[in-house]
Amino acid sequence: MTLEERLVRLIRTGGPIPLSTYMQLVLHDPQDGYYTTRPGVGRDFITAPETSQVFGELIGLWLVHEWRALGSPPAFRLVEIGPGRGQLMLDALRIAATTGGAGFLEAMQLTFVEPSPVLREGLAELFAQYRPGFAPSLAGVPGGPMLLVANEYLDCLPARQFRKADGQWRECVVGLNGDGHLAFGLAADEPRPPQGAALAGEAVEVQSGLDLIIADLASRREAFRTLFIDYGPDDRAPGDTLRAYRDGRQVSPLETPGLCDLTVDVDFGRFARLAAAAGLDVAGPTPQGMFLLGLGAQARLGQLIKANPDQAEAVYTAANRLIDPSEMGVRFKAICLSPKGLAKPAGF
Ligand SMILES: C[S@@+](CC[C@H](N)C(=O)[O-])C[C@H]1O[C@@H](n2cnc3c(N)ncnc32)[C@H](O)[C@@H]1O
Repeated sequence: MTLEERLVRLIRTGGPIPLSTYMQLVLHDPQDGYYTTRPGVGRDFITAPETSQVFGELIGLWLVHEWRALGSPPAFRLVEIGPGRGQLMLDALRIAATTGGAGFLEAMQLTFVEPSPVLREGLAELFAQYRPGFAPSLAGVPGGPMLLVANEYLDCLPARQFRKADGQWRECVVGLNGDGHLAFGLAADEPRPPQGAALAGEAVEVQSGLDLIIADLASRREAFRTLFIDYGPDDRAPGDTLRAYRDGRQVSPLETPGLCDLTVDVDFGRFARLAAAAGLDVAGPTPQGMFLLGLGAQARLGQLIKANPDQAEAVYTAANRLIDPSEMGVRFKAICLSPKGLAKPAGF
């Protein structure tokens, strides 16, 4: 039975399911979920580290700087959530090896949180020399000093969606249409939105996974720095931003479940408010372009162009995509969460 057939059966017997349940099943079903069977980094979508090496390299510099800001602990966990094919970490560690001096690489225990078995296999091979560990979730990462980075992970977290209809708020659900096919609808009863979610405008999305990340970080006893980079607004809650991608094309989120990636904009404002309310220090959200320029993107680009004069235009175009406000420079944002009492992180 295909995933679509199983979803139809589930809805026929149990009734319509919230959008967040649909996203979770479609992305992570152990048999047919998108990330289980077809993690399409570089095929369905392209990310910043896969666009230009400058991205991962600058994050490598950032990691070394923040390791020093933590007091250069002789043992720390370097965690990446949702590393995909590992390009960011590959570029970051190459730079860390040359700028971190003795110490950083020796002190680091590399840990990936990656639900996709195919991607985990690739990572284990690619980073074999560092003997990486794998954790099932952030909650499964043991305590101790930690540096954490996650690029385009938050946007994969399932979202609940609320919509105003005839003056009343309702939760968006996935049900069946008259032909028995998957279709969007609205729940009949009044919704109970999660804490801190302000229902305003015509539609609002809320990712409960953000609450879990904050709860985990707030419970950690030892120093850490976390850097999340993703797309989304910082001045309002996202409305209806659910999108699906297959082979670089935008498709309907209900079409071919399990074969297309699903994504939503991240509510950076709510993420920052939850973090501050939990007693964490919040730096950003800062536009990605500003963050990368602050870390020395221009200087690094100059070096790369000098070293590869034949490819100068391609190198420039790729790196510029990350910074240009009309491309990824503003829509993508960086946010850094830390416990109170540490110096301001670099780039913010
Ligand atoms: C859009 S890709 C980004 C990959 C990589 N960070 C990059 O920038 O190229 C999303 C990544 O998040 C992972 N992911 C999705 N849901 C996740 C979850 N609930 N927990 C941890 N990782 C998740 C995916 O398997 C994938 O590696």
